[in-house]
Amino acid sequence: MTQPVSADLVITHARLAAPGAEAQAPLQALAVSAGKISWVGAIDAAPSARQTLDARGQWLTPGLIDCHTHLIFGGNRAQEFAWRQQGVSYQTIAERGGGIRSTVTATRNASDAALLESAGRRLQTLIDEGVCTVEIKSGYGLTLEQELRMLRLARQLGRDYPVNIHTTLLAAHALPPEFSDKDAYIDHIVQQILPAAVDEGLADAVDVFCEGVGFSPAQCERVFSAACALGLPVKGHVEQLSDLKGARLVAQYQGLSVDHIEYLQAEDVAALKPSGTVAVLLPAAFYFLRETQLPPIAALREHAIPMAVATDCNPGTAPQASLLTAMNQACILFGLTPDEALAGVTTHAAKALGLHTTGELRVGHDADLLLWDIGSPAEISYGINLVKPVRRWLAGVEQ
Ligand code: NIG
Ligand code: FE
Repeated sequence: MTQPVSADLVITHARLAAPGAEAQAPLQALAVSAGKISWVGAIDAAPSARQTLDARGQWLTPGLIDCHTHLIFGGNRAQEFAWRQQGVSYQTIAERGGGIRSTVTATRNASDAALLESAGRRLQTLIDEGVCTVEIKSGYGLTLEQELRMLRLARQLGRDYPVNIHTTLLAAHALPPEFSDKDAYIDHIVQQILPAAVDEGLADAVDVFCEGVGFSPAQCERVFSAACALGLPVKGHVEQLSDLKGARLVAQYQGLSVDHIEYLQAEDVAALKPSGTVAVLLPAAFYFLRETQLPPIAALREHAIPMAVATDCNPGTAPQASLLTAMNQACILFGLTPDEALAGVTTHAAKALGLHTTGELRVGHDADLLLWDIGSPAEISYGINLVKPVRRWLAGVEQ
């Protein structure tokens, strides 16, 4: 008697990458039904399926998640890069009206088609590396219309490409030229931009740039309190260039993540624990700014704060459309283990986006899967541009 078909796909003879998995991890099977992982176990106990694939000992990982990007922007900042190479600092360039403000001008002046085309190229590069979920921030529009446009374009990318997109409103990124007073602009965000983004369902979270060249903790708090009142989770660019105690503020608002955190003090790390806030490490920005202050990795480990790793892909501090390179940078520059780097772009990155059923090879999670022709999971972080996934499924559908 033939068994009833109970799964859409069964992948057999796969090694499942999980923290601590050894090169000789047992060969297992994994079943997919209705876009979800429906079963994991021994090969001879696998359910029958419409389609079976023999992985021949290759490694399965969850689809990668880039939980912090500014993927949509006009122009580039190669000229500022040249100035920085002559010794002018990122902050000085920002104070002279360059930096984020120059990308704001270029983004506002770009057509929707041009922004979709340039962001689409960067997105495709990430997808080719195995990225299945990408967070995209606004923050280069800085008017009601332009911020909403950026978020709409981000949603559009999610329809145009085989990838899940999460959007984050980052109106509190820099002071736009229309305003001379930061508090007045915060009023505008709280009263106009945030409610409009919520009305149109355009934002999945709200972010701020808590920094001298950005906004003060008190100003960020106003954005957080308005976001929470509207039911949106918050996160923050905090302690990137100085220690303003932004991470503590994010934790007070039960924030999803604190991002950058090079200047976070070890004694402030424990404050992240009760809220389950994720530490998002952005080694590409650290690298590109030639930063020397390291994030408090030992304290994060000691307090078991989940560490995510993301690209921060943006024209000013991280012109890098490669999450695999960010994994390598997290290991080399921040001392993460390859296991920590992999958890950082899967399970912990999911948490940084508030997602609970993606990022792990476990029953009930999305069947966003990658197959790698590698000898051990450490190979994913080990090199630069040496490996890419050989097969890729999004919600159980091979891409
Ligand atoms: O994550 N720090 C603020 N935002 C970006 C940089 C944006 C820019 O310079 O255009 C970052 O590093
Ligand atoms: Fe950023």
